[in-house]
Amino acid sequence: MTKQTSGVFLATIAVALGIFVLGIAPGCSSGGSSNTTAATTAASGVSFSKNIQPIFNSNCVVCHQGAGQAGLTLEPNLSYSKLVGVPSTQSATEQRVKAGAPDQSYLLAKLNGTQVAAGGSGAQMPYGAAPLSASNISLIQQWIAAGAPNN
Ligand code: HEC
Repeated sequence: MTKQTSGVFLATIAVALGIFVLGIAPGCSSGGSSNTTAATTAASGVSFSKNIQPIFNSNCVVCHQGAGQAGLTLEPNLSYSKLVGVPSTQSATEQRVKAGAPDQSYLLAKLNGTQVAAGGSGAQMPYGAAPLSASNISLIQQWIAAGAPNN
């Protein structure tokens, strides 16, 4: 082999390696699946104890404890049994939380400020404070729509 031919030979190998590296690179870029997994978990898995009760602890329990304003206590371990399937004291037609039916749940009406249209009365909750964030109201709405599980 002359010096010239061995040079051409090495160059050919270099080009071949380059094509090989470029060729496998696109195979490494399929990293989109983790987003899909997170979205699926969020849609199906709102937890009463992990996602909903902390909202009550921060915004509601100060008034809704013990006997509780409007007969409603929102303390941990008591709130669920005071909400789900329990008739509202203010609205003659609605339950506080009707499992699977956010539109007929007086709790949501009080958080959205639509309590009068829901046959009730009084102020939007939390009383005397800014309304809950849209994302927190949405979590409560999703939890009720999912059947208001005690999870
Ligand atoms: C500063 C005190 C205060 C805070 C904080 C407060 N509430 Fe109330 N809540 C009241 C009072 C007083 C009433 C009755 C008068 C009224 O509705 O305006 C009431 C009534 C209610 C009712 C009606 C119960 C029924 O059976 O008809 C619901 C539901 C309710 N509150 C939910 C909440 C939620 C959820 C929070 C937190 C996001 C909250 N409240 C925060 C004072 C409070």
